[in-house]
Amino acid sequence: DWKMQDVLDEEIKTIQSMVRSDEHVICALSGGVDSTVAATLVHNAIGDRLHCVFVDNGLLRYKEKERVMLTFDSDLHLPVTCIDASEQFLSQLKGVKDPEEKRKIIGREFIAVFDKFAQMLEEKIGKRPEYLVQGTLYPDVIESCPPPGSGRTHSHTIKSHHNVGGLPVDMKLKLIEPLKLLFKDEVRKLGSILNVPESFLKRHPFPGPGLAVRILGDVTEGNALEVLRQVDEIFVQAIKDAGLYDTIWQAFAVFLPVQTVGVQGDQRTHSHAVALRAITSEDGMTADWYYFERQFLVDVVKKICNNVRGVNRVCQDITSKPPATVEWE
Ligand code: XMP
Repeated sequence: DWKMQDVLDEEIKTIQSMVRSDEHVICALSGGVDSTVAATLVHNAIGDRLHCVFVDNGLLRYKEKERVMLTFDSDLHLPVTCIDASEQFLSQLKGVKDPEEKRKIIGREFIAVFDKFAQMLEEKIGKRPEYLVQGTLYPDVIESCPPPGSGRTHSHTIKSHHNVGGLPVDMKLKLIEPLKLLFKDEVRKLGSILNVPESFLKRHPFPGPGLAVRILGDVTEGNALEVLRQVDEIFVQAIKDAGLYDTIWQAFAVFLPVQTVGVQGDQRTHSHAVALRAITSEDGMTADWYYFERQFLVDVVKKICNNVRGVNRVCQDITSKPPATVEWE
């Protein structure tokens, strides 16, 4: 794609002239498409003066850390420091039930970990990094008026997302946002020119607060996180096996903090209910629920109940957005 190749060359030049040869840049990777493509681009421009961090907040999906760290290393040759902060996040979340409160705590802990990373770097390279890379896209930046000269017009209002929000303001870092004039499909094209594997570019979006917004109520109660990871993995893997992953915008499981009566073997059980959500969408702003074939659902539900201890009931969320949001919290 010649147009995206031009955009790429232009961006690399801009970054090279902006960041002086003695200056350093940091980037928080989420494992998602945007931050990965942004980091890969900046890495192409300034090499090892880019320092990436991936935070395990204890709210990641099944084997997520291992999977993304492997991609960063073997496919992208992108040096990434992995910080395990799961105990820190989970201890702060203990007993917290309110969705907004949970989000606030997670945002605050992200800043704390990021600050620690900047300090670690300062000890290593002898100075504080000057720049922060963010994978902000065009729809994220613009609420009402497109930047002058961007050539973009704005057709609908877009909700602002909270990613690792607040970082730049708190840390007085200058921002590098190489994707800020691009839409998601353009980012995918750019990523493909940068040799980011196709499988990675097609990954479903995943919210910054992770599984915390998919476990209603207290995230740390019982083994909710473990149960949710297993159910989610079975569901998403089944979708991949059925060849539906690219058709569906997002698919995931939700842990419900209620127990229902069931019968498994000849035993009466009193276990958890989970919900499955799969949607189609253009941009996440509106969404339709996905209509699976009966046999697909029969098989998935059987697999979940037979393999995940502590689950005896599976519901499907058949609400569109609006009135529901994509995530349950
Ligand atoms: P909602 O639930 O608002 O979600 O309908 C719309 C899209 O945004 C994702 N989402 C988030 N992404 N940080 C993120 O980076 C967040 O706090 C967040 N909340 C929701 C959601 O997964 C969906 O794709």
